[in-house]
Amino acid sequence: MQKLQNSDPEIYEILKAEEDRQLKGMTLIPSENHTSKEVLEALTSVLSDKYAEGYPGKRYYAGNEYADKLETLVQDRAKRLFGVPYANVQPYSGSPANLVIFSALLEVGDKIMGLNLLDGGHLTHGWKFSMTSKFWQSVPYHMTSEGAIDMEEVRRLAREEKPKIIICGGTAIPRAIPFKEFAEIADEVGAYLLADVSHIAGLIAGGAHESPVPYAHLVMTTTHKTLRGPRGAMIMVTDKGLAKDEELPEKIDKALIPGLQGGPHLNTIAGIGVALSEDAKPEFKEYASRVVANAKTLADELKEKGFELVSGGTDNHLILIDLTNTGVGRGAFFHEGLERIGIYTNKNTVPGDLSSPFYPSGLRIGTPAVTTRGMGEAEMKQIAEWIYRFASHIKDIKLPEDKAERKQVIKDFRVSLKSDGFYDELRAEVESMCEKFRVPGV
Ligand SMILES: Cc1ncc(COP(=O)(O)O)c(C=O)c1O
Repeated sequence: MQKLQNSDPEIYEILKAEEDRQLKGMTLIPSENHTSKEVLEALTSVLSDKYAEGYPGKRYYAGNEYADKLETLVQDRAKRLFGVPYANVQPYSGSPANLVIFSALLEVGDKIMGLNLLDGGHLTHGWKFSMTSKFWQSVPYHMTSEGAIDMEEVRRLAREEKPKIIICGGTAIPRAIPFKEFAEIADEVGAYLLADVSHIAGLIAGGAHESPVPYAHLVMTTTHKTLRGPRGAMIMVTDKGLAKDEELPEKIDKALIPGLQGGPHLNTIAGIGVALSEDAKPEFKEYASRVVANAKTLADELKEKGFELVSGGTDNHLILIDLTNTGVGRGAFFHEGLERIGIYTNKNTVPGDLSSPFYPSGLRIGTPAVTTRGMGEAEMKQIAEWIYRFASHIKDIKLPEDKAERKQVIKDFRVSLKSDGFYDELRAEVESMCEKFRVPGV
């Protein structure tokens, strides 16, 4: 970054500081990962300069010979990796990709059925503040109090409400998604089944989670989570989808452009292509199984130390700690306090949360990024130990219901994060471990 350092030191300093943050701390946010240097090279290529509205062979701009080659190649890699007959690699990200799918298949006012946001669904699956619930009628389903998707409710609601599309998948589901059961329900009521596998696509590609392809009509995934690509998304149609509606590919293509997007980000598409090729290698299979093994070790260690986990554990890359037994609404203290010592997590609601999404009672953690850095069993045990020491240190801090009192408690907590030497000590320990593990892009 020599040139940038000379020409724009302000931006350069920010980029260097972010590299330093990533190196000296650890990302336990389950939706984040570290891409390879090669993916980053593709992302910063001159493809960033090119407009290519349309699709290979049908563009609105001249000079797209190589854009056509690239997009066709990346589509082919996606099709091969997931075993599907169609893939659109142009969505800017997961949220617009879901909008593309809904607008391709539904009329305004039709019903969509997805997991409730507070139970682990995504905003775009019909949450009340998302455009998806303004254009379409949202029929949310929930988790049981044991932390499993309530399949009885899914069946009952599907029969009663007859949604046009059922979405399975989400952002905070620690257990395997029962694609087959979802498919039986969708088929019974004549709905499309969309598997939004944004979180687990890398596990599917690496054979560490069942594939939805035999069961769903459409599969959507972001490319920047367990798939380890750049920020983007892909929409795929399965053979089952084609059998239900042979025009699905055309409908998706049109809903994307001219329906929702303009020019595709070719540099991102190149980065996705590089990642998909990495994801097809035997080493990636090993990576996927290590992600799950690490999550299981971390979950077991946390349980041993007295933490309660939603659903009692994990089948995938993600763990949801339910902190309710130590007081409701304490997720934010963990999120901020762990950040102070270089452990990045995120506060999250838990099924049946008695608090609000801003002060939820859970903490969501995951192992994709630390596994990419090469951390294993010993490090997972150490991470659990740090979380435990932190939790013991703040055990007496509770979130008051009264707003003024709450404000004061949060203020005092933030002051203590700066002044209490305990946090410096823990941060030094975290840094010293992190320094032993490379971040591939740095
Ligand atoms: C299940 C699921 N769907 C969709 C999205 C939206 O993706 P993006 O943030 O790229 O818009 C996410 C991102 O968190 C997700 O987890």
